[in-house]
Amino acid sequence: MKKNTKLYETAAALLASGKGILAADESDGTAGKRLAMVHLPNEPENRQDFREILFTADGIEEYLSGVIMYDSSIRNTTDDGVPFADVLTAKGIVPGIKVDLGTRDLEGFKGEVVTQGLDNLEERFKEYYNLGARFAKWRMVVTIDEDETPTDESLKINAVMMTRYAQIAQAAGIVPIVEPEVIHAGDHSLEKAEIVTTRTIQVLFQTLMEYKVDLQGLILKSSMVLAGDKYSEQTSPEAVANATLRTFHMSVPHECAGIVFLSGGQTPERSTENLNAIAKMGEQPWTITFSFSRAIEEPMLKAWAGKKENEDKAKEVLLETCKQNSLASLGKL
Ligand code: G3H
Repeated sequence: MKKNTKLYETAAALLASGKGILAADESDGTAGKRLAMVHLPNEPENRQDFREILFTADGIEEYLSGVIMYDSSIRNTTDDGVPFADVLTAKGIVPGIKVDLGTRDLEGFKGEVVTQGLDNLEERFKEYYNLGARFAKWRMVVTIDEDETPTDESLKINAVMMTRYAQIAQAAGIVPIVEPEVIHAGDHSLEKAEIVTTRTIQVLFQTLMEYKVDLQGLILKSSMVLAGDKYSEQTSPEAVANATLRTFHMSVPHECAGIVFLSGGQTPERSTENLNAIAKMGEQPWTITFSFSRAIEEPMLKAWAGKKENEDKAKEVLLETCKQNSLASLGKL
């Protein structure tokens, strides 16, 4: 396979020690849920203010290697007219872009979904590259429900579509993040979460390798392995760390450039604490760090509360949250 050193350089920058990725890639609809937390209507100006606070905060580059944006935000600018992607690039933060178009029902498989977004992806990548993006994200959704869910069929079709996305991304000079999210909501046990997450990631990497995706130029974004939020017993950080690392050792080839975590609806504190416990387990074959959305954004949103006079405070809170996650990624909390 031809080595693509540009991809490896981007992956290495994203996985720099002590740094992580901010997933600020909410669709316009999901951004509305964030704004609703601070009682703001879901209007373009409010979405822009929210993103401007996130991206212009002084010092975030010390803890953030990359930021994932959404189509409307990569095209957006600061109040002064500077494109958000340029603001990030000037700080040495790599701009990224979410390219999947969400999920649709998988006909014939009750409760299961398939991710859309392959149409015109080559052209979209060309445009995103010109707008500054050097990495991308595609998410598939795996729900643990009855004994049969997720089915092998849903894992396979999602893995194939994600693999096609990864091929197109790499051909465009863009590092693909592949994100199979095993949903935390539910009443499943830790053991069940471990079995399903292991199987999901195994199917994904088998497919990526069958189609010759260059794993050295690819990043896995994973859920932490933990019992469902409605399960009787919540998982301790040490148990999360053990189950999550066992899962990765059973499913992630060592060539993979690295692994980043989503927070998946855990509280910000719990996400950070679990990351710290995982890092404390010592060196692994892959760099492991964070790519949180809610766990980074919620504290700054509360501090901001949608008020101009709180913007500086919100930036301070954001910086502190990023610092705590940076320390956690090194197991130093
Ligand atoms: O796709 C989801 C985001 O990339 C991660 O979001 O940290 O709020 O789970 P989260």
